[in-house]
Amino acid sequence: MTALTSAEVLNYLKSKDEKKLQNLIKKASEVRDKYVGRQVYLRGLIEYTNICSRNCLYCGLRKSNHHIRRYHLDKDSIIDLAMEAQKQKMQSICLQAGEIRTKKEIDFLVRTVADIKEKSIAVDGKGLGITLSVGELSYHDYQLLFKAGAHRYLLRIETSDPELFQKLHPPEQEFSKRLECLYALKDIGYQVGTGVMIGLPEQTAEQLEADLAFFKRFDIDMIGMGPYMPHPETPLAAFTSAIQLDPYRTSLKMLALARILMPDINMVASTALQSIAADGLINGLLAGANIVMPVLTPPAERELYSIYQNKLYKSLQNTDREIKKAGCEPGYNHWGDPPHWYNRHSLSLGEDRI
Ligand code: 5AD
Ligand code: SF4
Repeated sequence: MTALTSAEVLNYLKSKDEKKLQNLIKKASEVRDKYVGRQVYLRGLIEYTNICSRNCLYCGLRKSNHHIRRYHLDKDSIIDLAMEAQKQKMQSICLQAGEIRTKKEIDFLVRTVADIKEKSIAVDGKGLGITLSVGELSYHDYQLLFKAGAHRYLLRIETSDPELFQKLHPPEQEFSKRLECLYALKDIGYQVGTGVMIGLPEQTAEQLEADLAFFKRFDIDMIGMGPYMPHPETPLAAFTSAIQLDPYRTSLKMLALARILMPDINMVASTALQSIAADGLINGLLAGANIVMPVLTPPAERELYSIYQNKLYKSLQNTDREIKKAGCEPGYNHWGDPPHWYNRHSLSLGEDRI
């Protein structure tokens, strides 16, 4: 494995030299080939509700944004979408939503996860891998969802700098609470994913270097990170002029550096990366990403899941084509768990404990 010092990482993040970036991406590609191969795994993304009780200053779904219509898919619709994912040979799905911590909502999600698991196992004996991304919940709720059959969880730290975190969130949303949730998820046995936004107002290369060090220290299994996209109906949009880093190029650097520093993790080519540049998916894969999350949310609701504006929708067919164009292979019929999770449990890949 290539060890990069923090000074070298910082140097890459600050560099404007195109040749240096290309060399970094080439190195990341080699590391990817060696440690996780060229399979790109798919997670069918089901954004089942845009209702959110939180007020993150950057996100279009924040509670105080009254300019969007709120929706919530019912259980049968979610199950139908999941079964469609399985039919299309995506062996994993991701259920994503705004944060709703009521008992009613948790019960709903537990039942939905359990039903998807049961129905998908009845089809092929293995069933769908289920990832959740529904925010900060209690230890007990995370546990209930794990027992129901979800085995991966994505919860972005957004930034590992507590001061910047607090500038991005109202006072009641605390950095320490976010960290506590990440520890809880790990303790329960989830494959844990986290990540940051890149190119935030006031964010520096030093902070991004610290983010990479945080991922490594936390021994993370999966990373989801991408460019920050200002949303006009959010308070943070007023600070767009304080953006210091080029969100696209810096995102590609972050992916490449993460792959080199953490060779056996899973890393997503995010929708934001694909939305900000036409070649975002291909370049993200070349920089070392090995996961793509094609959106399965029905068109009417997809429009309303407006975390940021001009969110791209790419069909599975086009996603498949671009994966191949990047010299990779879509990993149909596989859960595609992060090898890192198996390595940290001293298990061999494919030895399912779940
Ligand atoms: N631009 C880019 N990413 C965003 N997210 C929320 N708002 C934005 C935005 N304006 C990301 C956050 C969050 C995830 C669900 O979406 O990182 O964790
Ligand atoms: Fe809600 Fe998540 Fe958006 Fe924050 S980032 S407002 S928790 S949907």
